[in-house]
Amino acid sequence: MTIRAVVYGVGPIGQLIARVALEKGFDVVGAIDIDPQKVGKDLGEVLGLGKTLGIKVESDADKVLRDSNPDVVLHSTGSFFDKVYPQIMRAVRVGADVVSTCETLAWPWYRYPDLAELVDNYARNYGSTVLGAGVNPGFVFDVLPAVLSTTLTRLEKITVTRSLDASKRRYSFQKKIGLGMTPTQFREALGRGEITAHVGFAESVLLMASMMGLRLDRVEEGQEAIIADRHYETQYFRIEEGQVRGVVGHGSGFIGDKEVIRVELRACVECEDFEEVRLMGEPSITWRSTGTSGDPATAAVIVNLAPRVLNARPGLVTLKDLVNYSYTA
Ligand SMILES: NC(=O)c1ccc[n+]([C@@H]2O[C@H](COP(=O)([O-])OP(=O)(O)OC[C@H]3O[C@@H](n4cnc5c(N)ncnc54)[C@H](OP(=O)(O)O)[C@@H]3O)[C@@H](O)[C@H]2O)c1
Repeated sequence: MTIRAVVYGVGPIGQLIARVALEKGFDVVGAIDIDPQKVGKDLGEVLGLGKTLGIKVESDADKVLRDSNPDVVLHSTGSFFDKVYPQIMRAVRVGADVVSTCETLAWPWYRYPDLAELVDNYARNYGSTVLGAGVNPGFVFDVLPAVLSTTLTRLEKITVTRSLDASKRRYSFQKKIGLGMTPTQFREALGRGEITAHVGFAESVLLMASMMGLRLDRVEEGQEAIIADRHYETQYFRIEEGQVRGVVGHGSGFIGDKEVIRVELRACVECEDFEEVRLMGEPSITWRSTGTSGDPATAAVIVNLAPRVLNARPGLVTLKDLVNYSYTA
């Protein structure tokens, strides 16, 4: 069956998603965005394909969704469920399934329990499935370590470290981690929500724990700036000594006073690219990668999951409902 997909959000990630969907033979039947630079243009032009696709990027989401009758909406407009849920509701109302990069949708009961219940009920009524996924949350900090835990007979603690070179990432990523700001500007911008740095530490911890059946008593998260000790430069930012070169952050899950899950992100200019998952227990094991390419990998995750979501039960689901292979507490 050819999957009819609407791309909702045609920013850098939405563009990658659209490209991968087209490459994989999806029938991309609509594109929605509010950016005046994109609205009215042909999707092929926005993607830089050198040809038109006969699909205009439009801002009237209800019209696009009604006219195009998609099976699935590939959604990537924002990180916070309370901001994007009206967009998701629009897709649900036409009976489409939704796979979204919205980080806080990966485990929506943490920050937005009431909204999660509302959207769950709504989606069930319309026979639609809604899933939050991506690379983080959605893979490196949660699903991957949960799957890797399958070979342990006794689990004491999991730590995941992800280190990435921020200079290789898109402009919006470099901006949201505050590159080139002073430490004070960083703290204030983060406090006011003008930048977010990484979103979803707690969601990853809770998703991973739920996959393994671990009942956490408490979740903690935090992040701070990494300050440059010399001049750095990326395609988009100049960073002087004393300015923000990146962020370091973590999420932790506790049972009693014992930290049983810890995920750590270090995203900075010229940081090494790697991921390391340390599973402590019986038998202990460490897995290490050369680094997941965050942006294309996000697009791959979203498009690869689309057929799975079409076959999943209606309602608000998480990756726990789709991936069922891990240590069980
Ligand atoms: N889970 C993961 O692993 C993962 C990985 C990568 C990215 N993400 C998240 O995915 C989202 C997309 O990333 P990005 O870098 O492409 O973000 P971006 O640069 O902000 O692009 C988002 C696009 O959506 C548009 N948009 C915003 N609100 C909209 C609305 N109400 N209706 C239609 N279009 C709307 C934006 O237009 P304007 O520019 O005019 O606002 C922009 O063109 C971000 O929230 C990012 O944090 C998650």
